[in-house]
Amino acid sequence: MPTLLTRDPSDAVAVLEGGGTCAFPTETVYGLGALARDAEAVEAVFQAKGRPGDNPLIVHVADLEAVEGVATMTEMGRRLLEAFAPGPLTVVLPARSGLAPTVTAGLDTVAVRVPSGIALEIVRGVGAPVVAPSANRSGRPSPTTWQAVLEDLDGRIDAIMQGPPTAIGIESTVVDASSRTPVVLRPGSVTLAQIRDVCPDARNADHGDGTIRSPGTRHRHYAPRATVTVVDLEDAQPGSDAAWIGVSEPPDGYGLATVCADLEDYARRLYDAFRRADAHELTRIEVERVEGDGIEAALSDRLRRAAAR
Ligand code: TXA
Ligand code: MG
Repeated sequence: MPTLLTRDPSDAVAVLEGGGTCAFPTETVYGLGALARDAEAVEAVFQAKGRPGDNPLIVHVADLEAVEGVATMTEMGRRLLEAFAPGPLTVVLPARSGLAPTVTAGLDTVAVRVPSGIALEIVRGVGAPVVAPSANRSGRPSPTTWQAVLEDLDGRIDAIMQGPPTAIGIESTVVDASSRTPVVLRPGSVTLAQIRDVCPDARNADHGDGTIRSPGTRHRHYAPRATVTVVDLEDAQPGSDAAWIGVSEPPDGYGLATVCADLEDYARRLYDAFRRADAHELTRIEVERVEGDGIEAALSDRLRRAAAR
């Protein structure tokens, strides 16, 4: 069945209400939506993405009251949501029954997010919880434009909302708020320092111990087809077979160069630059190293994952 392209959020609402799959923009990346209480619709999301069944989905809802429809609120969850919802933050909480079992991949917790902008309008319009993983084929970079969704999922999903490019460009911060000590499972544009302003004990996951992990972090992620290397400017190795992505002006000789205005711009343009390098059939991508605790933490996490083989 051909995928419907629409600019009208009410078409997206209608497709979702009818049990279909529809991609739409959030402030982070495009998500592939389906009704979270409809097992067949959720299955269609896993099928379209080619997503492993052991990787649970994020449930998107309109407000804190709706969070309590799918999860048991905790003190830390409430603090985080009051500070950052609607916005690019996902909280993991004890799950309530009623979701399609595949949503949580059999875990007793559920990841919940209140998105902003067009996504909030759509979730409000549906009036029920909506799963929305990033709208890419599993293993590919998350889509930041509707064209990237089309490239990955044309003919595999019911509809795509043709919204604007996404503002942030990397996926939400995921925080396990099920206990007294919140743990950042996936860094994002909401930083650990911002989280500590409301939950002083919050910490990063210790990926060394293998115990506290977001299930999705086990899988290879965010990767273009070209080989990605994280480099400093002085180690750049230009060539017509290579793309450069960074904030510094690179030496001459790259097949493609994306020079970003600042770190936010780097995050916003990274996945699109990956896809452009693949479209130009370049075989190498050099991404400029970033270090720091702010958005740098999220950005360097995505760079590291893309570079992992
Ligand atoms: O910004 C975002 O979060 C985007 C937009 C569309 O909202 N969504 C997104 O979804 O990135 P996805 O499915 O690509 O990533 C969800 C992440 C995965 O790493 C998954 O393992 C983790 O959240 N996750 C989901 N449920 C979880 C749970 N119960 N416990 C721990 N991690 C969970
Ligand atoms: Mg994803």
